[in-house]
Amino acid sequence: MPLDTDSLSLLPEALNRLNAAFAHLPDEPQDQDLEGIKKVLNTVAERMGDNYPYQHPLYAGQMLKPPHPVARLAYALSMWINPNNHALDGGRASSAMEKEAVGKIAAMFGWPRHLGHLCGGGTLANMEALWVAGRLRPGTCIAASSQAHYTHARISEVLQLDFVAVPADSRGRMDMEALEAILERQTVGTVVATMGSTGLGAVDPLPEILRLQERYGFRVHADSAYGGYFTLVDNLQSDVRQAFDCLDRTDSLVIDPHKHGLQPYGCGCVLFQDPSVGAIYKHDSPYTYFSSDELHLGEISLECSRAGASAVALWATMEHFPLDRGGAFARGLARGREATVQLYERLHADPRFLTAVKPELDILIWAPNGNTASEISSRSQLFFERAAREELHLALVGLPRELLESYWPDVEFDQDSVTCLRSCLMKPEHLDWLDRIWAIMDRVGIED
Ligand SMILES: Cc1ncc(COP(=O)(O)O)c(C=O)c1O
Repeated sequence: MPLDTDSLSLLPEALNRLNAAFAHLPDEPQDQDLEGIKKVLNTVAERMGDNYPYQHPLYAGQMLKPPHPVARLAYALSMWINPNNHALDGGRASSAMEKEAVGKIAAMFGWPRHLGHLCGGGTLANMEALWVAGRLRPGTCIAASSQAHYTHARISEVLQLDFVAVPADSRGRMDMEALEAILERQTVGTVVATMGSTGLGAVDPLPEILRLQERYGFRVHADSAYGGYFTLVDNLQSDVRQAFDCLDRTDSLVIDPHKHGLQPYGCGCVLFQDPSVGAIYKHDSPYTYFSSDELHLGEISLECSRAGASAVALWATMEHFPLDRGGAFARGLARGREATVQLYERLHADPRFLTAVKPELDILIWAPNGNTASEISSRSQLFFERAAREELHLALVGLPRELLESYWPDVEFDQDSVTCLRSCLMKPEHLDWLDRIWAIMDRVGIED
């Protein structure tokens, strides 16, 4: 599938419209070395060819996909202005678009009120949430599952907050008995519920976490950086659906439009249910806030300069694909999930492969069959390399023995970690390509 160039034809008209807004200004001579730019650009194109084909359905590895053309074009268009959403002084229109887009994301989770903004990505968004959590609960610790994103422990270290990892159950979700034992012996100020873990796509049991909250009074932060948009789809298993339906009861939440929201990188989002946490962000910038008394986004975010273009791209995408349950955007997500479930079923039924946890979202892990953990690990590595030679690009993940042994009773665990294959089938087209993906997997086989 060639890269899309058709959509580029839409850019000149939009650019002319944008130009019209500034037509009253005196002309500024454009002194550009077009030949020089062209030469560099062609070199860039050649260098960028050295990439895995993230945009293609045969890329079925990491959590990667290109932005939708509407996001790409809106981002490009706003580059002629390059707004900075720190302050209204630097990005008036794009700040308004950010507030509208973030408001719609909050509404998607059923939040009647919120304070929130876009930021660089999931790590930064989680950092803001944990920073606020630490300010509100000084001297307490952060608890997240051992399958939570690795950055939670590191962020806690940066913020000098104590961190405790809660063991995971055989589905890779936070183990509730283990959490309760920790709550009994430690003062936990905030529990991070991962709504779709990076390794397995496992969704922590939020309803049960909230039940424990009633007894122990901690804050709940949802890391739905990867999984958040799945709240819109109609093909989740029932306990996962129930977990997503509780997201209106969390204190803070993170979602990454640059993962499942069709955006270019550099677009995370953090939301707080209680707008009064904005007071924690108070600072005195002597430079920026001159144009209005209205709230500037820099007054409620940790970062200073931020790409207004990210807000423009997100706003445009949400105009094109409203965040409706059952709408076109939701159907696209549901198709990726359906592809994941179908691939799991094919692998599960085939004795050449080992499966483990049933996928809860659109991440799937499996391995070629083998007698021992080390044999399975080396076969996974081999399978990964052979598939790549056939242009099927997968990913590898190291999983602890505890997550696998209940599914693999016949395997001898001669090592504590097993290398498995991992696929994130996050493009709607993955469903149409499933037979072709399977044909390659079938060919690659697992001969010794
Ligand atoms: C659940 C989860 N949280 C946080 C992150 C970190 O997000 P980012 O890579 O945008 O910083 C990721 C990244 O994959 C993730 O899956």
